[in-house]
Amino acid sequence: MSSRVHARWFAAAALVSACSLQEASNRVDSTASVAQRPSTRGWNPNTWQAPVVDSTPDDPFEVSVYRGLALITHTRDSLPGYVGGSLNCTSCHLEEGRRVNAAPLVGAFARFPKYLDRSGAVVPIEDRINYCFTRSLAGSKLPSDSREMQDIVAYLAFISTDVPTGSHVRGEGLAKMPPLTGDSGRGRRLFTDNCVRCHGNNGAGLGPIPALWGAQSFSIGASMARVERAASFIRHNMPFDRPGTLNNQESFDIAAYITSMARPDSPGKENDWPNGGTPADVPYDTKGHKAFHPPKVLPRTSNPAAAIVAAPASVPRNK
Ligand code: HEC
Ligand code: HEC
Repeated sequence: MSSRVHARWFAAAALVSACSLQEASNRVDSTASVAQRPSTRGWNPNTWQAPVVDSTPDDPFEVSVYRGLALITHTRDSLPGYVGGSLNCTSCHLEEGRRVNAAPLVGAFARFPKYLDRSGAVVPIEDRINYCFTRSLAGSKLPSDSREMQDIVAYLAFISTDVPTGSHVRGEGLAKMPPLTGDSGRGRRLFTDNCVRCHGNNGAGLGPIPALWGAQSFSIGASMARVERAASFIRHNMPFDRPGTLNNQESFDIAAYITSMARPDSPGKENDWPNGGTPADVPYDTKGHKAFHPPKVLPRTSNPAAAIVAAPASVPRNK
């Protein structure tokens, strides 16, 4: 079976059958609604909403968008050769990438190509997606000209319909946290009380619930491997069934515990932030940055070179 057929079969099958986790979050199932391409001309960031995806697509663009949605929600099953662990894109980009303060994907398309400090380069959206494939999914880069990559891009473009180029939407990224220090000892106890019932005692995940550390988790090069980024995600989104019940300090404590645990390596990570300015909580050494308490890394077993997304050549910034 070619990987293409494989992806289509899994993506389509999985989307129809497996929605229970998402239903558990009490959201409206957008895939069940009929498409409504908005006809609005003006754009107001306070009232704008991403359009719903047509679950019975009848033109090539809608088919591509629908496949893209299936691929980001069932990434591991649809693209097993490209995903290293137990996560899907929507393990972090919650509610099909629509949840505020959970690194929403709505509106992102309008901000690419974009200069990223971590790469020291202007990158296209395909490279940004591949950073998440190689780092957050601890997997391999998906060819930019593949049907699957272009379906994911089509979905991202669709959920940015009417957002003007360069604009920002509500709840973008992960909310910035106050400068606190986490205590991993306290974090361990809080983890037992609040997280173990779903993510398991050893952080390896349970059934469809994704891993938080170990071989099946995100790599050390993922933003989620940084204490402050993880604390923000946890503060606003976890426990999954009771988000918002942990305070800032508790979120930092749990984040300190999780990010201290072993996880897959991210080949080439030492070249991040090539112009300096690495944030203090980055857990590996880069130019001019020494990591504080770096966790143990687990070597990538299959083709580590496929985990490196080379930065496109960029004109150096004037300093
Ligand atoms: C382990 C969690 C995690 C997983 C899994 C993950 N991402 Fe991300 N992603 C993030 C975080 C965190 C950011 C950065 C948010 C920030 O700091 O603004 C991000 C950023 C992005 C961005 C840029 C958003 C913007 O506003 O500039 C895109 C696009 C993206 N991810 C797509 C994907 C896709 C597609 C997948 C699956 C192939 C995926 N991500 C998997 C955590 C994850
Ligand atoms: C009721 C079950 C449940 C509880 C309790 C829970 N989670 Fe989650 N968590 C999930 C699910 C489900 C996802 C993936 C969301 C999806 O696929 O829609 C997730 C995703 C995550 C992710 C991003 C993906 C990954 O695997 O890295 C992190 C980080 C996370 N949870 C941390 C925590 C922490 C820390 C706690 C305790 C404070 C916690 N969770 C409690 C169910 C739970």
